[in-house]
Amino acid sequence: MLHYVYGAVKKSMEAYVTRAESNLVEVPLPFPVNSNDEFVSDFRKALERGKSNGNRVRLAVIDHVTSMSCVVIPIKELIQICRKEGVDQVFVDAAHSIGCTDVDMKEIGADFYTSNLHKWFFYPPSIAS
Ligand SMILES: Cc1ncc(COP(=O)(O)O)c(C=O)c1O
Repeated sequence: MLHYVYGAVKKSMEAYVTRAESNLVEVPLPFPVNSNDEFVSDFRKALERGKSNGNRVRLAVIDHVTSMSCVVIPIKELIQICRKEGVDQVFVDAAHSIGCTDVDMKEIGADFYTSNLHKWFFYPPSIAS
């Protein structure tokens, strides 16, 4: 999960890994962002940490557009890395994406991609996708 993960998502992840007696690995992404390469490199390092001691990375949670820092994450590239590195599944928190950036679900290739329409489409809060 990225350092910029949305607070409620972070709390959910923490609750889940506590129950599952597992661990969370946080990717300490740089800010301000100078290049996608920096992101990718930090992400790779975090995956290595996650896989150390013979551990398996069950789920990668990646924001498409971060909430607080408003950064568009190179998710396609990060997901390809996850696939190569044997991460079981990838979840993309795309709450800010639809209406804000291009979204091609097939090209992105995530296992789960959730968004909502009450941000950039000005729909009522109950409209999620
Ligand atoms: C990145 C991100 N994830 C999740 C959420 C939560 O979305 P919702 O308002 O649909 O609960 C938000 C809301 O701002 C967000 O910015």
